[in-house]
Amino acid sequence: MKDSARYPFSVSLLHWLLAIALIGNLVIGWLLDDREELLPLHKSVGIAILALALTRLMNRLRVRDRLPPSVNEVDTLANFVEAAVHRLLYVLMIVAPLLGWLKTNAAGHAASFFGLFSLPTLLSRSRELAHWLGQFHMIAAYSLAALIGLHVLGSLVHRLLSGSNILPRILPLPRRTVRRAKHVPR
Ligand code: HEM
Ligand code: HEM
Repeated sequence: MKDSARYPFSVSLLHWLLAIALIGNLVIGWLLDDREELLPLHKSVGIAILALALTRLMNRLRVRDRLPPSVNEVDTLANFVEAAVHRLLYVLMIVAPLLGWLKTNAAGHAASFFGLFSLPTLLSRSRELAHWLGQFHMIAAYSLAALIGLHVLGSLVHRLLSGSNILPRILPLPRRTVRRAKHVPR
């Protein structure tokens, strides 16, 4: 059965690490208006997300021949929407932090990772550019949040409408080993 197939462990592990980091940083981003002191933490977590997302993309390309087939039949709308949402999620989890990095540079700061090191400064200071990059960063972050909502809704729809539980496909758990009881002759 298709829905009993599993994603490779590395895909599942990176999926959940990024899910936690992304949702966490979206929340921190929303709090920034009232809690400016969270900005260094927001930038550092964002830099970690960029590194993890690039690792995840490379890993996915590495294991592409070992991925389970989609639970949606080929050539259906559901199959198309699923593939489009997954691709867009990959694009946005890389583009959103990149825009945050560029906005920080245009505002005249280096993007620092917990004060340990800074990413290279790619843009010189420009008030107007900083404004626009801030807007694009916000649009990318909100689009990411909307797509995450759609993605979670998608797995709920599978659960509720077709009764198939697809969550175990992406859980980073070892495959269940089927142990056969030894036949003991009487
Ligand atoms: C928060 C950020 C999230 C992102 C960016 C994300 C992204 C993705 C992507 C891209 C895939 C395809 C596998 C891959 O290429 O890595 C996937 C699979 C999956 N995700 Fe998420 N996900 C997120 C959160 C969640 C959450 C909260 C759930 C809980 C319901 C979830 C449930 C699933 C399931 C069940 C699959 C396997 C789909 C299948 O059966 O093929 N995801 N996710
Ligand atoms: C995927 C990772 C990231 C997410 C989901 C995210 C999300 C957000 C959100 C939701 C906001 C609030 C937008 C608003 O309502 O005005 C925000 C603001 C901000 N983020 Fe990020 N961010 C990420 C990565 C980064 C990175 C890597 C940096 C810089 C190194 C950064 C720098 C900023 C700055 C400077 C602001 C304030 C923007 C402004 O005042 O115009 N972010 N981010």
